[in-house]
Amino acid sequence: MAADPEGLLVRRLGSDDAMAFMALRRAALLEAPFAFASSPEDDVTRSREFVQEALAASDQATFGAFAEGLIGIVGIGRQRHLKAAHKCEIWGLYVKPGARSGGVGRALVLEALAFARSLAGVTHVYVGATERAPQATSLYQSVGFITWGVEPAALRLGEVVASESHMALALDGGSGQQAHRPNASRRCGCVLQPQLAQVMRGALAGVGRGMQ
Ligand SMILES: CC(C)(COP(=O)(O)OP(=O)(O)OC[C@H]1O[C@@H](n2cnc3c(N)ncnc32)[C@H](O)[C@@H]1OP(=O)(O)O)[C@@H](O)C(=O)NCCC(=O)NCCS
Repeated sequence: MAADPEGLLVRRLGSDDAMAFMALRRAALLEAPFAFASSPEDDVTRSREFVQEALAASDQATFGAFAEGLIGIVGIGRQRHLKAAHKCEIWGLYVKPGARSGGVGRALVLEALAFARSLAGVTHVYVGATERAPQATSLYQSVGFITWGVEPAALRLGEVVASESHMALALDGGSGQQAHRPNASRRCGCVLQPQLAQVMRGALAGVGRGMQ
């Protein structure tokens, strides 16, 4: 549990938080459709039982930021396959519009990264952000993520398509020194062939139990 910045409480959500999580998650999908692959009508978090089970699971975690109620959420999950269990993926980052630009998003991401570091054997964290979520890309870069591939036309909604940057962060073995590096955004990322990006994306499927 972390109080940061000023009066903000960031803590792991549990089953009792299911209703508040579902309400904010739905608001997120409606307000920022290109930030998430899920749509309100196909989102797995429509099911309260699913959400309660997910919030109670040990190999994944959902964190909430509280300031007069739940104002931000982020999830992180570990790959289930044995040969991929060194990887976690962040999903579902969202901060209410009125609470943005005050450090809430970063506090949530840092809490998710701390969770990844707490899992023995986890060495890498992955995340994706579409070109229509530039604030998210900037945030992830600011804590050390680099882009390893760009997937063209990753999401389509009506006539609008958006590419997605796939990013990775190599953890530093638990020292925490890599969590916040303001200059990291100036580092260059690599752009892989779209086909390879697709394959790697597929390899990560299942993390977050479909709650992207
Ligand atoms: C992305 C999001 C979570 C950021 O939350 P936030 O609380 O505003 O973020 P913070 O205040 O912690 O900012 C952290 C960093 O994010 C980036 N950032 C935040 N707002 C930004 C903006 N308007 N323009 C550019 N970069 C921005 C910056 O790198 C910032 O670091 P800095 O303050 O040192 O410059 C929020 O904008 C959001 O919910 N957007 C809609 C949903 C979304 O895009 N989710 C991401 C899914 S991958």
